[in-house]
Amino acid sequence: MKTLKVNLDRRTNHSYEIHIGGEILDRMGMILARNGWAKRYVMVTDTRIDALHGQMVQSALEKCDLRIDRITVEPGEASKQIGTVLAITEKMIALGADRQTGLIALGGGVIGDLTGFVASIFMRGIPVIQIPTTLLAQVDSSIGGKTGVDTAAGKNLLGTFHQPKAVFIDVAFLRTLSDEIFRDGLAEVIKYGAIEAPELLDDLEAAAASAALRETAFLERIISAACRIKKGIVELDERETGLRRILNFGHTVGHAVEAASGYALSHGESVAIGMVAAATLSERLNDLTVDDRRRISSVIRTVGLPDRIPGNLDLDEIQSRIARDKKKAGEIVHFVLLKKLGIPFIDGGVPAELIKETLEGLRK
Ligand SMILES: NC(=O)c1ccc[n+]([C@@H]2O[C@H](COP(=O)([O-])OP(=O)(O)OC[C@H]3O[C@@H](n4cnc5c(N)ncnc54)[C@H](O)[C@@H]3O)[C@@H](O)[C@H]2O)c1
Repeated sequence: MKTLKVNLDRRTNHSYEIHIGGEILDRMGMILARNGWAKRYVMVTDTRIDALHGQMVQSALEKCDLRIDRITVEPGEASKQIGTVLAITEKMIALGADRQTGLIALGGGVIGDLTGFVASIFMRGIPVIQIPTTLLAQVDSSIGGKTGVDTAAGKNLLGTFHQPKAVFIDVAFLRTLSDEIFRDGLAEVIKYGAIEAPELLDDLEAAAASAALRETAFLERIISAACRIKKGIVELDERETGLRRILNFGHTVGHAVEAASGYALSHGESVAIGMVAAATLSERLNDLTVDDRRRISSVIRTVGLPDRIPGNLDLDEIQSRIARDKKKAGEIVHFVLLKKLGIPFIDGGVPAELIKETLEGLRK
């Protein structure tokens, strides 16, 4: 098992450890029992993950004399809303949870964001432990303390920063993940490769060529690399006032494409297209070389993600969704672009005409 420390401002006492490995549940139980962050825990998960892993995780923790109760919600983004927050808190109260209780988020980004949000407001804040079970959650959402729920007006409109006490990443959970959801997580790994560690792209290509993308040793390696990058960025910008925005590489066009497809395209597929758009803009604005731009497209295709906008999507709608983002940020579209692979920067001055041409060029 590998351990990384997220070193946050010493005055706030928010630092924590990320433990990464295969089959680490027994060690997790011992660490939780030893640290005494809470007297008892309530584990929140969704019914799908619960059926696959819930009892196993609960038993591993109970073996270490921890008291664990379990609450389940429906799988999917629709559960990430305030109604579910209230339902969870009511169940917690019925279970007798109090300020000495901790929450455990067992699941993907939806469960992590939702449970983190509840933990941040229940009795003015209780500890949360993250146990991510999707690749996206293992490389991204479980680290950094961003929590949130959606409203009818948009995603993540209600949220808090609430750092976990610890993150336990067991790659064994990924065995039960569907190929589609696994691939979504790979888009975020490619993002880290593009903005910080181009060698990750070589690793992904080599693993894809030898059909090793889902092998434990490979997963442990890329997840550790990704976590190290995310932790480094969070350490410098805990509350996303600047640098942390580079993690949105591919997300400006990605979000617009995802919404314009009526969510028929997954988040990972949309971010993949968004990264190709950002790379193309980077090339057009004379920073990125053609080779680097092609490299990003090629690794995206190699792992089975799309690098083109499907023909049935309305480019005007995508463009107007990007422009709506622009209003939010004060008339400027903040694109994360690349000077070269591994060197991102934020550009607020991308002309609308160039965005249009780029989208047209990416049309299937
Ligand atoms: N907080 C952050 O910094 C941050 C960053 C990125 C994304 N997010 C959020 O993450 C969410 C998306 O997360 P996600 O992609 O993990 O989706 P998800 O949480 O909806 O999980 C996807 C599906 O996989 C299933 N699942 C989870 N683990 C499984 C396993 N081990 N085996 C089989 N099935 C499993 C779930 O039941 C669910 O149906 C979005 O709401 C997004 O806003 C948050």
